[in-house]
Amino acid sequence: MPHDFMPGLAGVPAARSAVSDVDGQRGVLEYRGIRIEDLSARSTFLETASLLLFGRLPAKLELERFTSDIALHRRIKYRIIDLLKCLPEQGHPMDALQAAVAALGMFYPGRNVQDIDNNYWSAVRLIAKLPTIVAAYARLRRGDDHIPPRDDLNFCENFLYMLTDSVPQKVWSHTLDVCLILHAEHTMNASTFTGMVTGSTLADPYTVVASSIGALKGPLHGGANEAVVHMLREIGTPAQVRPYLKKKLQAKERIMGFGHRVYKVKDPRATILQGLCDRLFRECGASPLYEVALEVERVAAELLRGKGVYPNVDFYSGIIYDKMGIEVEFFTPIFAIARVAGWLAHWFEQLQENKLFRPDQIYEGEHDRPYVPIEKR
Ligand code: CMC
Repeated sequence: MPHDFMPGLAGVPAARSAVSDVDGQRGVLEYRGIRIEDLSARSTFLETASLLLFGRLPAKLELERFTSDIALHRRIKYRIIDLLKCLPEQGHPMDALQAAVAALGMFYPGRNVQDIDNNYWSAVRLIAKLPTIVAAYARLRRGDDHIPPRDDLNFCENFLYMLTDSVPQKVWSHTLDVCLILHAEHTMNASTFTGMVTGSTLADPYTVVASSIGALKGPLHGGANEAVVHMLREIGTPAQVRPYLKKKLQAKERIMGFGHRVYKVKDPRATILQGLCDRLFRECGASPLYEVALEVERVAAELLRGKGVYPNVDFYSGIIYDKMGIEVEFFTPIFAIARVAGWLAHWFEQLQENKLFRPDQIYEGEHDRPYVPIEKR
């Protein structure tokens, strides 16, 4: 049967899913039918993760149980710490995270992915341990000791505590929590699809998540949040924005943090993050990067008019993390800490009706070529 080739599988459904939905024309994103605006204003990351994984908002006791299961599994084995210590300090934290998550699977070797109980505990471990791995590598690579998690702190307080050795003010942990909600899920994106391809082989969830982490790293996907901050720093001041963007667009280069395969209007997550920036910088002091970013958005709207290219989720998130004092290379790992909830929600869903991914190709090579012995080539 002849098929049309769709580069990047644009518009080709790869699964049926009830996890989330995007309306790219209206700029609407829903997790399990609930608008992202509602969740970011009223939920928490762990409640949202539970919603994504199990399909509905948890009852009070269910949420308490999930939260306490996560808190109990935050610690990582000393051998994972040893593994992180062996990695080069200049290595990218996404590579360290990918290696550590793949290694986690060796400590929890339950391979029967039909075992629902085991799958629950794997999901709990992954959501609980990713922040500990990221914070441990951040400290170890600069020569500091790993800080073990504290059970009395909530998910985001604990992550920032493990990263900085001090309990953060509410404003910072709450802001991070909202960022995690916004990054937790986004339909059939590259890293989710990667995880699903791996999951379709019935590989274990640590391998599924490790493969998703690899896909998230790239600058066209999660890695764009790093590139945005580098770009804003390079631009320097609002006055430099117009000449910088003109030069970039003339050279047919992309503006990082802009454009999306699905959204043809401003990404609703970027709108929420921008509101978060407004509040944060009013309360905690201005950010020079934010001033530049606002001007980039204004000038880009003019220069890219008619192309449907607007700020995406990666445009404003890095500015917030930068204000928190987090190193640029840790922005994408924070994305992974959130997105693991979405990856696992798709994995749970996929296991109910799995089919091995084995797409087709359009062969454009030759046929019936002779094998020429090496001495005659
Ligand atoms: N800057 C300038 N022009 C752009 C951009 C951009 N960031 N994105 C798209 N365009 C233009 C593109 O040049 C093309 O113009 P023309 O038709 O004249 O050739 C038109 O818009 C359509 O582009 P496309 O490449 O067909 O669109 P796509 O759906 O394949 O690209 C994208 C989606 C995300 C890869 C792209 O917008 C991009 O490279 N953005 C920059 C990287 C980025 O911010 N990535 C984060 C994506 S969202 C969060 C995530 O997934 O992690």
